[in-house]
Amino acid sequence: MSLSEQVAKEIIDRASKAISERGRFTWALSGGNSPKTLYRLIAANYRDAIDWSRVHTFWGDERCVGPAHPDSNYRMARETMLDALRLRPETVHRMEGERPDPDQAARDYEGLLRREDVARFDLILLGMGDDGHTASLFPGTTALEEKTRWVAAPWVAKLKTHRITLTFPAINAAACVLFFVVGKDKMRVLENPPKPLPAQRVQPVSGELLWRVADSP
Ligand code: 6PG
Repeated sequence: MSLSEQVAKEIIDRASKAISERGRFTWALSGGNSPKTLYRLIAANYRDAIDWSRVHTFWGDERCVGPAHPDSNYRMARETMLDALRLRPETVHRMEGERPDPDQAARDYEGLLRREDVARFDLILLGMGDDGHTASLFPGTTALEEKTRWVAAPWVAKLKTHRITLTFPAINAAACVLFFVVGKDKMRVLENPPKPLPAQRVQPVSGELLWRVADSP
């Protein structure tokens, strides 16, 4: 079984359980390249497995670009999965990376989470960079120290851009956090760093922490 096949089944099992127990499933998607195979597989194999009208889709982070930009995490998820699942637009909640004021966009996204009664995400999918970043929580950025806000818009000096990202309070409140990492070599960065890297500071308060790592998706 491939990494994507295993994780897709885990996600759908959790979604099915959440929907039967609480009437809905809330998940936050990761961006980048690694999840593309996973998303395509979910759209291809699980379209009839659950009642997708009960799923509310959010993002763990977004680049400060518009929804049609090639770098948009929303666009990537839409093209690989969301369009094929034909989700109701009111259940798809993208971060507005195009806004001229990223911090206000972050505050507004947090307001959206409150309006949608997301006291904790059922599942947060995370990737990891080879510097140990996750979502858009990069080493050395201000968002790492955020203790109350659930969404922040840190300046990421190495990328020379702002990002919009869930913060540790939001991530660590989740019922389940699943790291989906393609490339075992990436894990080396976690071996004895001088101080805990962002990915290592993901410690769900009462939820599950799952690492799913392979060299291919
Ligand atoms: C992003 C992601 C980011 C990603 C890692 C890994 O917006 O880029 O959310 O956290 O998961 O950078 O990216 P790859 O999967 O492309 O290696």
